[in-house]
Amino acid sequence: MTEDTTRFKQEAGEYAASLVESGMVVGLGTGSTAIFATRRVAARLRAGALRDVVGIATSRATDAAARELGIPMLTDDIPREIDLTIDGADEVDPALDLIKGGGGALLREKIVAQASRREVIVVDACKLSPRLGTHRPLPVEVLEFGWRSQARFLESLGGAVTPRTGDGGLYRTDQGNIILDSQFGPITDPADLAGTLDARAGLVGHGLFIGIASDLIVAGATGVRHLQRGVEAATVG
Ligand code: A5P
Repeated sequence: MTEDTTRFKQEAGEYAASLVESGMVVGLGTGSTAIFATRRVAARLRAGALRDVVGIATSRATDAAARELGIPMLTDDIPREIDLTIDGADEVDPALDLIKGGGGALLREKIVAQASRREVIVVDACKLSPRLGTHRPLPVEVLEFGWRSQARFLESLGGAVTPRTGDGGLYRTDQGNIILDSQFGPITDPADLAGTLDARAGLVGHGLFIGIASDLIVAGATGVRHLQRGVEAATVG
């Protein structure tokens, strides 16, 4: 990762943290961009600029990081609606649809996103794409039971499947499941593919986030832009 990319991630994450208000329940995302938002929320709490904020994490790693930073955290049952979630993405198309799950947290990320009033996505400009699947494989989370049949299913849909590995074996999600990274190339109809994947037993999650992001914060060489679903783009920095 270049210094510029790290700076852009930081700018996007910190801008998103400025959208957090006192009294909110805030979803805290996973990855190298969302962590900048989490750190800034913690700093605003410490400085007294925010109060009565509680977080809900999209992964065990984020939960541990947020607690370490002193953010009061909810447990896993999401007792009420989440006001605003800040999370990263791997690829973003012009409709603000996303591929997520490069960090393996796609299922919890989608659960938190769907329980949120606003889903604010923070990215550096490299993540922008004319069509989902152009740059990144689609992560698909499957139960271990019968996972090879899911791999064949994904291949029948046109995906080139690579089971994700880690620590000398298959990578395990926070739920103990397996991830099949599926390279589809540019996906003609992401909503249709998402529907097909949603209908498959044993396939417990996938990284297509269709119609879920409400806001996109994108940072690059020309500054920070804040786009909202259905609203004209605004340049904010
Ligand atoms: C985690 O599972 C992912 O969905 C991340 O949100 C995504 O991979 C973005 O990560 P970076 O901000 O580290 O690029």
